[in-house]
Amino acid sequence: MKSPSRLLATLTLFVAGSAAFATDPAPAAPAAAKPKEKHPETELHDRMEKMETAYKKLRRQAADVALNSDSLAQVAVLRENTEASAKLEPFLVTEIPAADRAKMVEGYKAKMGELLALIGQLEAAFKAGQNEAAVKLVKELHDLEEEGHKQYKSKSFK
Ligand code: HEM
Repeated sequence: MKSPSRLLATLTLFVAGSAAFATDPAPAAPAAAKPKEKHPETELHDRMEKMETAYKKLRRQAADVALNSDSLAQVAVLRENTEASAKLEPFLVTEIPAADRAKMVEGYKAKMGELLALIGQLEAAFKAGQNEAAVKLVKELHDLEEEGHKQYKSKSFK
């Protein structure tokens, strides 16, 4: 009779051998797709997502003089997408009475104008190496974002 350890060794060899000859296992099922966010698909939303990425980077690095050239690149992303956003209309406009729409669009565009002005100041601060001022302006960007969203972002977005 084999000793328990030899028996174990034999069994291990047998199992390893069978695995080597086994046919390839079926490919794993693809990971379950992330459930799609449920909100209206708008160009404005896409533009805003790009702004968010640039804004988050600025929040992390605005204080760092060594990163000013990349910070200026992020400011350019903000500018490009703000200019494009200013030509669009918030989805919320489709959810209010027709009579109120023109006024809402006007207010929205004015707010986008404020955002552009702030972006101009931020650009100047980075160019002048005034990073303390830049940090403050990035905070102001956040305040403006909150105001803009409170007034113009539909509840259909989170
Ligand atoms: C740096 C400033 C800003 C950033 C980073 C930003 C970021 C975002 C993000 C990430 C979304 C998508 C949110 C979601 O899915 O819930 C969004 C949506 C939206 N944002 Fe902004 N936002 C900024 C400023 C503003 C301003 C100033 C306004 C208004 C003048 C505004 C108006 C909107 C609107 C209306 C939507 C909904 C999209 C639609 O109606 O189609 N945002 N924003």
